[in-house]
Amino acid sequence: MITKAPGIEDIFPDRIPRWNHIVYAARSCFARFNYREIIVPIMEFTDVFVRGLGDETDIVSKEMFTFEDRGGRSLTLRPEGTASVVRAYCENGDYNRLATSKFFYIGPMFRAEKPQKGRLRQFNQFGAELFGSDDPFHDFEIISLMNTIAKETGITEYTLLLNSIGCEECRPAYIEELRKYYLAKEESLCPDCKKRLYKNPLRLLDCKAEGCRAIREGSPKITDFLCRPCRDHYGKVKELLSGSDVPFTEDPYLVRGLDYYTRTTFEFVTNALGGQNAFAAGGRYNKLVETFGGKHTPAVGFAAGIERMMLVTETVSVAEPGIDAYIIHNGEAARSRAAVVCSQFRAAGLSADMDPSSVSMKSQMKKAERENARCAVIIGDSELEGNFLTVKTMNTGEQEQIPAASIIERLSAGGK
Ligand code: HAM
Repeated sequence: MITKAPGIEDIFPDRIPRWNHIVYAARSCFARFNYREIIVPIMEFTDVFVRGLGDETDIVSKEMFTFEDRGGRSLTLRPEGTASVVRAYCENGDYNRLATSKFFYIGPMFRAEKPQKGRLRQFNQFGAELFGSDDPFHDFEIISLMNTIAKETGITEYTLLLNSIGCEECRPAYIEELRKYYLAKEESLCPDCKKRLYKNPLRLLDCKAEGCRAIREGSPKITDFLCRPCRDHYGKVKELLSGSDVPFTEDPYLVRGLDYYTRTTFEFVTNALGGQNAFAAGGRYNKLVETFGGKHTPAVGFAAGIERMMLVTETVSVAEPGIDAYIIHNGEAARSRAAVVCSQFRAAGLSADMDPSSVSMKSQMKKAERENARCAVIIGDSELEGNFLTVKTMNTGEQEQIPAASIIERLSAGGK
């Protein structure tokens, strides 16, 4: 049998209501916060991600699906959405007409990670990116947008972790102190961290190895090194969050796995996911537009993992989809009449289905139940003779004879 590749999921119709529950909540919130949809390509020139995310990040150094096109150019399946949106923003100068541009996107991302619960190689994100403002109000807006989506999907047990990782003015002094601290403990670091110490010391804080976690506990905190403007910015973000009852926990070690961040970083985490505890994350990235050749444009954004949110909302009950009517027939003439009724229902905007084979009425009724039909419309000899239809309301079991001429009106009105 041909199977799917590891870490890649099929999402069957039984999981789609939960998927839609999350995506509809996100779309509704994006509209309320005035974010407009952008659709960017699923593959880009590899350089978009190498430059955008940083070549020392795990994503770029070991998790990208990269291949050559027929012209020998290196392409990559997008591992995230931010770099592509920034590339599109810079490439299509049009967007710069607006003082602030607010975009959202929904779609698949690809990372060659070791698959486990909540960690896939093809997964889906929705995310938002806001360009053209360094105002802490917009950090607050982005966080509160994700917080509203989390609440509307029914997630209750989660923590918002918050940090500021400063700017190019204050971060170098912190990195120097961090390096000094870790250098003194180099022998006890995991092999990856021994490399990080020289290549990207900030990433030392993100290591999940137990020994490195313990070392981190005594390490210097970026928040003690923030310059005045970064400290004020962070202070204002916290003030705005507190003022609108968005609870947060400060985590001075929250650095994130992407190199583009400046100032605010945040993660929405929950215990419900086990090892993969973040279901959404983001932050400010004031230098990325310039990296892509655009003019100085501060920006902030977030992305959430749809599959992870589906896991977190597993206990939230979601309405099962169903159809308005399942048409049941008995005999050849009734079967032909059922086909006509089914077409008329569909043309009138009602959802309807039937089994065109000659199976028994009992098994057709079972199918009506399985399809979660609001009612079963029964056609037999007496219905044909009397030009009426028997309508059974599925949740009460009540039956009624309705003249053929008024059936659509009755069903459309929400009655049986
Ligand atoms: P990220 O933290 O890499 O950030 O991913 C955001 C979310 O995508 C995670 O919190 C998680 O829910 C989901 N996710 C990531 N990797 C996987 C995976 N292998 N399997 C399943 N779900 C996954 C970003 O992608 C940034 N672009 C966020 C951002 C937007 N920052 C600023 N703007």
